[in-house]
Amino acid sequence: MIYIKNEYDIKMMRKAGELAAKLLKYIEPFVKEGVSTLYLNDLCEEFTKKHGAISAPLNYNGFPKSICTSLNNVVCHGIPSEKEILKDGDIINIDVTVKLDGYHGDTSKTYLIGNVDEEAKYLVRRTENAMYRGIKAVKPGKYFYEIGKAIEKYISKFGYSIVRDFVGHGIGKNFHEDPQVLHYYSLRNKIRLQEGMIFTIEPMINLGKSYKVRVSSEDGWTVTTEDGSLSAQFEHTVLVTSKGAEILTKV
Ligand code: MF3
Ligand code: CO
Ligand code: CO
Repeated sequence: MIYIKNEYDIKMMRKAGELAAKLLKYIEPFVKEGVSTLYLNDLCEEFTKKHGAISAPLNYNGFPKSICTSLNNVVCHGIPSEKEILKDGDIINIDVTVKLDGYHGDTSKTYLIGNVDEEAKYLVRRTENAMYRGIKAVKPGKYFYEIGKAIEKYISKFGYSIVRDFVGHGIGKNFHEDPQVLHYYSLRNKIRLQEGMIFTIEPMINLGKSYKVRVSSEDGWTVTTEDGSLSAQFEHTVLVTSKGAEILTKV
């Protein structure tokens, strides 16, 4: 069931979205060569608490930390660790979700560490573009599959692949709720967009030809590309308005 948000929900989701966006902006100068992903986790947790919110990932279905840090061939759900130190040439996605007064804001970005090779830089830039293509496709009355179609149309020309096993999602009082938002074209997503819906668009794009991914059997979370290639991701939480999409996770 897809919840249509009322005026109050929307007001609260704007606040939660804004805080999530501020958090991602706050952490940016710390995302540098030599720091551990646990250090970034701890700074995010502290910032979130200071602003009267909760880190939604912590203990969510047993997730052990407050943010997801997904390095290089990690697609999503990477677990921050003291042993994982950022180095020159890495790409890393930081995915933050705050819960403020009962409402969630979810956003992520892939950062470049030092000198990143051209191929990886292109992947990251194009993944961000892909997210914005998806956002631009949002219009009340259109089908959800238009989002995936727009992303796929843009991404297909580069020879990359679009991850299928992880999707965007409705969001509100729940971290994850209906509907699923597919980032590739599929008639499975034949539901109409409606004013007042709020969901994320968060394409994960693999540099290699395979969209297939693997979940670590060791920690039960870390998702990596099956072929070991790099993967990038960007995420915004958006509200469907009469005109299109309002990005809620923007500062
Ligand atoms: N923030 C992720 C998303 O975009 C979800 C992380 S779930 C967690 O949906 F448990 F890993 F935190
Ligand atoms: Co999300
Ligand atoms: Co997220």
